[in-house]
Amino acid sequence: MKPDIAAAWQPLAAAAGSLREIHLRELFAADGQRFANFSTGWEGWLLDYSKQRIDVNALSLLCGLWQAADLPGWIARMRGGELINHTERRAALHIALRHPAGKGPIMCGGHDVMPAVHAELEKMRRFCGEIHGRHWRGATGEPISDVVNIGIGGSDLGPRMATQALMAFRHPELRVHFVANLDGADLATTLATLQPRTTLFVIASKTFTTQETMQNAASARAWLVAALGEAAVARHFVAVSTNLGEVARFGIDPANAFAFWDWVGGRYSLWSVIGLPLALAVGFDNFEKLLAGAHAMDQHFFTAPPQANLPGLLALLEIWNTNCLGADNRALLPYSQSLGLLPRYLQQLEMESNGKPVDRQGAPLECAVAPILWGEPGTNGQHAFYQLIHQGHRLIPCEFIACRNADFDLPGHHPKLLANCFAQSEALMRGKTLNEATAELLAGGMAADEAARLAPFRSFPGNQPSTTLLLPRIDPFNLGALLALYEHKVFAESVIWDINPFDQWGVEYGKQLASRLLPVIEGKAPAAGLDSSTAGLIAYCSAR
Ligand code: F6P
Repeated sequence: MKPDIAAAWQPLAAAAGSLREIHLRELFAADGQRFANFSTGWEGWLLDYSKQRIDVNALSLLCGLWQAADLPGWIARMRGGELINHTERRAALHIALRHPAGKGPIMCGGHDVMPAVHAELEKMRRFCGEIHGRHWRGATGEPISDVVNIGIGGSDLGPRMATQALMAFRHPELRVHFVANLDGADLATTLATLQPRTTLFVIASKTFTTQETMQNAASARAWLVAALGEAAVARHFVAVSTNLGEVARFGIDPANAFAFWDWVGGRYSLWSVIGLPLALAVGFDNFEKLLAGAHAMDQHFFTAPPQANLPGLLALLEIWNTNCLGADNRALLPYSQSLGLLPRYLQQLEMESNGKPVDRQGAPLECAVAPILWGEPGTNGQHAFYQLIHQGHRLIPCEFIACRNADFDLPGHHPKLLANCFAQSEALMRGKTLNEATAELLAGGMAADEAARLAPFRSFPGNQPSTTLLLPRIDPFNLGALLALYEHKVFAESVIWDINPFDQWGVEYGKQLASRLLPVIEGKAPAAGLDSSTAGLIAYCSAR
């Protein structure tokens, strides 16, 4: 751990020691201004973190980590195109993907990346225009009615999540589907609803070597060729990749390939041409608004002091809960059906980025990092796992996200949705004492002995920390800003934890072993040398 950070840790541990003894109820009772003191805004947003188990002293110590970890220096290194992904010798310049034209260069490896970024965006705009204008025709001369994005991880989760989030903005005549899983059920069930003549496949893969995507792409190609012949591939397949050589080898016309660069991490790539299916789903103008929202959040992150910096505050609060209060997880609870896939998207962004064993120097980490992120949209989750959050005796910091305005405003729905969201954070904070539970039962007319028997089941510890983020609405600008907020939260945490958030070596090991086992499962290689469990599993599947 960096010496400055190690020094900052001691007073934080002491602050946590005393705050552990104080219930959130007491913190609210002691400070009538608690909401005002522990909430902040940005562009019409409201971040309320008053239900976190902090006080003024803890917050100021946490903000001290900002300078101690040299966040301003690391932000400058990222913006300057330095190779901050040092294990892969790459820059991490996703911010360039949403940097507006005419706002100056962004340098990487001695040259300005902006002309290439805007050239690809322009190519995307033209392509969206051709598809939406029905000028792009399939092999039989018909316009495209369905787009299937084939990709996985960062080449799937971002555009899939954002396409669902922006359903209210979707193009009326174009359906966009997503296939990721190697399990043939994913592709087969999607193809069963489609016609080859009117289907366009987007093969999205940064490397263009990922097993899942290549298998699904080959099967989709076979499906198309069986119906329309080999020559149809050029009109029904486009590719999105950094590896244009492999794209050509697959048989996709280079004119139909959209490029991005190795300085874009897979889980940070939504803003690049990886966003093509999203732009097709909601229109290129809306895609540009998404970029504008992300850029606005970039500027906020780069310039706001930690106590007013939304990504910074979320990072510092997570560090508080993880490293000072001992939480090992965080529940993400969007009260928005549109944001239903956000937990899954953030699982990759947060856990693939910061789930690391060593610091930047390669030394084992001395502190916990990257709590398990899980969650579901409200109110559905209330009827599934909230019981455990309320009474399961585990520390589960919760992050609620809700909107002032509904994106599908059916009468009566939205006020109830908000009431449920706010009720949950209130209940988690306040809890219900044994006395309160007993009094409530007696007031309801229950006999005293029965009330005494039932009260323990109906009391709640409370003191469960939560943050509530309120947005005016889900639209392209706010969604772009929301996703950039989490990217920068992850970055700020990584700097304080002193880890590289832009590599993912852990994922590679599984891929390596899978390619070793494939010939054994196919009966082309002996099971010799395998452990008895792996050999037994393979033997079961080989038996007819
Ligand atoms: O899951 C590992 C990973 O390397 C992710 O980081 C990436 O988003 C995903 O695989 C897909 O990779 P590609 O876009 O190269 O197919």
